[in-house]
Amino acid sequence: MATGSSETTDPMELRWDPDNIPPLPAVALKALKLMSGTDTSLLELCNLIRSDPAFSIAVLRIANSPLVAFSKNVTSVLQASMLLGFQRLRSVVITVGLRAYLKGASSPLMRACWRHSVACAIIAERSAKWSFLDNDFAYTAGILHDIGTVALATFVPECYARVVERGADQPQDLLQIEQELCGIDHCQAGRSLMTAWNLPEAFIEIAARHHDPEAHLPGAASLVPPSCALADSLGFEVIRCRSGRSYAEILARFPEAARSRFPTSAKELAAEIATEIKVIESA
Ligand SMILES: [Fe+2]
Ligand SMILES: [Fe+2]
Repeated sequence: MATGSSETTDPMELRWDPDNIPPLPAVALKALKLMSGTDTSLLELCNLIRSDPAFSIAVLRIANSPLVAFSKNVTSVLQASMLLGFQRLRSVVITVGLRAYLKGASSPLMRACWRHSVACAIIAERSAKWSFLDNDFAYTAGILHDIGTVALATFVPECYARVVERGADQPQDLLQIEQELCGIDHCQAGRSLMTAWNLPEAFIEIAARHHDPEAHLPGAASLVPPSCALADSLGFEVIRCRSGRSYAEILARFPEAARSRFPTSAKELAAEIATEIKVIESA
């Protein structure tokens, strides 16, 4: 009595359960929940890092990398924490955390997710700095905004491979295709996951609404959607959209103070970001 309807996966059969998705490393999750930048939180963050040898080594490597130009050798986590300050140290921890999270699955898709997230974070950080907004918040929000994509690629890899294969005309269409093929889109997945991980509301809102043209994200958060679009257009995309916007069109979405500071050539910006990604990857 076959019904003959088994050739496509019924999205309803896929029960999205954030508890089945491995969490980010504990150190990164705890660091994300430490929101304030008081002396106590810097010490707490420092102790968190010191409790994990892998994080200690990675933080020391980044503190000694060309990204952080200090004249002397940074030889302890405490020294790194004092030189970097709470906000910067926290964004380093989240970057190291996401990299460790993606290491288990080094597929081309995961690598694309990683490069896109870092590119978005770098652009958001720079534009926040130029607009006098919270650049460390912008960086952290940028690196986490597509955690829902990472989750879908991990949780339903076959469905997500079909999403990649199909591609999309616009980023908004992508959400509909994910919904159709995976039963949930990456923004809903990101919201669900970050809620389950008890992360601050500001990060949840960005993961949930960065493709929503109606969303009015406040302050530094508002830089994440254009930074995501710019990362895509510079070649750091997860899924290629067929009708991409031009460099100039995307730059117009940034605040005036930031817009004028970006290189005039998209190629130049792409090369700068690629170099920064390489430094972070080798740290
Ligand atoms: Fe996205
Ligand atoms: Fe994105």
